[in-house]
Amino acid sequence: MLARRSLLATLLAAAAAAATEWPDCSPRADGHPPFNSSRPGPFGSPVRLNATWMHRPIVVLHPTARRAFPLLVFMHGATAKIEMYLPVLELYSSHGFVVAFPYIESPSGDTRPLTLNTNGEYILRALDYASAAASNASSPLHGRVDMGSVVLAGHSMGGTCAVMAGVRVPAAHEEHDLRTVSSRSPLLLTTATNDGAFWPAPLTAQHERGCFKGALGGGATGSQHPAFFVQFSTAACAEDGARRPFADAGHDCAFKAGVETPWVLSAMKLYAQQRGRASSRCASMLLGGGAGSLKADPLVELSLVAGERELGGGVRGKESES
Ligand SMILES: *[C@@H]1O[C@H](CO)[C@@H](O)[C@H](O)[C@H]1NC(C)=O
Ligand SMILES: *[C@@H]1O[C@H](CO)[C@@H](O)[C@H](O)[C@H]1NC(C)=O
Ligand SMILES: *[C@@H]1O[C@H](CO)[C@@H](O)[C@H](O)[C@H]1NC(C)=O
Repeated sequence: MLARRSLLATLLAAAAAAATEWPDCSPRADGHPPFNSSRPGPFGSPVRLNATWMHRPIVVLHPTARRAFPLLVFMHGATAKIEMYLPVLELYSSHGFVVAFPYIESPSGDTRPLTLNTNGEYILRALDYASAAASNASSPLHGRVDMGSVVLAGHSMGGTCAVMAGVRVPAAHEEHDLRTVSSRSPLLLTTATNDGAFWPAPLTAQHERGCFKGALGGGATGSQHPAFFVQFSTAACAEDGARRPFADAGHDCAFKAGVETPWVLSAMKLYAQQRGRASSRCASMLLGGGAGSLKADPLVELSLVAGERELGGGVRGKESES
């Protein structure tokens, strides 16, 4: 469906940790251009845990420190394997996130073309798992997960799951779902100009942009939170051979550590760690201008931001139709 990759953070005011407990964003620390390989974040290499919940595997990556971290549940794309995402997921965890990666069936079963899920079921199960583990004194996650600060994300089919898990009602109209999710949570959708997954290239990005504008443009969205649409350029999302044996062009640009990933990280830090703090560097990078900002990123062809509270309604952005 439309969400090639999506991110949403659920913000619950209760039990909110002071935002300043967490390192603020910085273009350098978050890996923005000029990108310098995968420098890990301040919490270091994560520990991997192979968990089982309701007879299905869930891979968990958690920082070694013993404190409550925000939770990222990341759902893979159709036929994908965890190896495609591991470097990026480890990077997120190293910046202070517990990461849960659920399977529909199993690592091998999920690579079959007919093993599909689009209603967010396995993301919701991973949330249940994390919630149970966080309060289970024998679990390595005990005391390590802040269930009041949760990010739902995914790639391709997994992006659909993230939106649907946010809505929590399956099978409604796409644009309606985006509105519902955006009214509840900050939302980040990314795509690439050369994404040819759903239509002959380059129409996927154009279609996704249309969905975003259709859902969130044109006045009253009821949104309390910004929603971002970011389209990365063909040059930024060209095949570079860095993720062999996997391709990393177009639809798979999300596998690269230095293109979409830094903005996903900065957005997660803004909403799950800084709690949306307007005076944070995270906020000025995502919503402001100047050096290090989303608007100034040379890899970004087009970015749109919607959100009534922040922007007085409608969709604005830098846009050049070509
Ligand atoms: C890239 O990061 C490494 C490791 O932190 C550092 O030694 C190197 O100087 C950096 N390179 C640039 C061009 O910043
Ligand atoms: C988790 O599973 C992977 C893949 O089967 C394996 O390589 C790894 O050693 C396991 N890790 C733990 C801690 O069990
Ligand atoms: C608590 O965690 C342990 C270790 O992972 C597990 O064996 C046990 O089944 C869990 N208990 C519950 C009630 O989930």
